[in-house]
Amino acid sequence: MKDQLLKARTHRRYQNKKVDIEIVRNIIKGAKNSPSAFNMQLSRYIIVNEDMELKDKLFKLTNLPTFHEVEEQHKPAGYIIVVVEKSRIKNRDTLSFDQGIVYQSINLMMNEYGMRNVCLFSPNKNKIQELLKLGINKYEVSYAIGYGHPLTKKRNVVETEDISAWKYFKDESGIYNVPKLTLETLIIDEK
Ligand SMILES: Cc1cc2nc3c(=O)[nH]c(=O)nc-3n(C[C@H](O)[C@H](O)[C@H](O)COP(=O)(O)O)c2cc1C
Repeated sequence: MKDQLLKARTHRRYQNKKVDIEIVRNIIKGAKNSPSAFNMQLSRYIIVNEDMELKDKLFKLTNLPTFHEVEEQHKPAGYIIVVVEKSRIKNRDTLSFDQGIVYQSINLMMNEYGMRNVCLFSPNKNKIQELLKLGINKYEVSYAIGYGHPLTKKRNVVETEDISAWKYFKDESGIYNVPKLTLETLIIDEK
């Protein structure tokens, strides 16, 4: 588990390789048993794995091509759009908490299949709503997950005590280093 948690890093550049939809279904099957407040299980999923035109439009709605300068040929192989039925939302704090847990379950499941992903809060949710023709009253788009087979799986996690060191950096060999705070920085007291 410790190794899985270390490997389950965000990736933004993918191989031009299709993902079998059954794998995506299995990933959601694994994640669907995540804990949720009052066992409400509010997350619903839209898999966009096949429709090239839709995938192209979704890519352009994220910050991947703009902020991260991801090239067209390295865009995610597909997306999971996580939505919630509006009428069932009672507590937004617990909803966000539940969705974080679901995301990490999906993240770890993807890792198990040798895939990687990026959690995407950047897309314009209203535009996704329009694009997917989701009834504006029924569903609310929460976030998206872009996934695929990564260009390279290599990532180094580097320990730091510097709380302002959140930016990834590439080392001499071009490998991304992901700064993470040390245990000593995180545990503020032990009694
Ligand atoms: C709630 C949440 C929203 C995120 N939104 C975006 C996003 O819109 N675009 C993006 O490129 N990465 C996004 N990320 C990925 C984070 O930037 C990434 O998890 C962080 O830099 C740490 O890297 P790591 O996942 O490899 O540990 C998001 C992550 C989380 C948990």
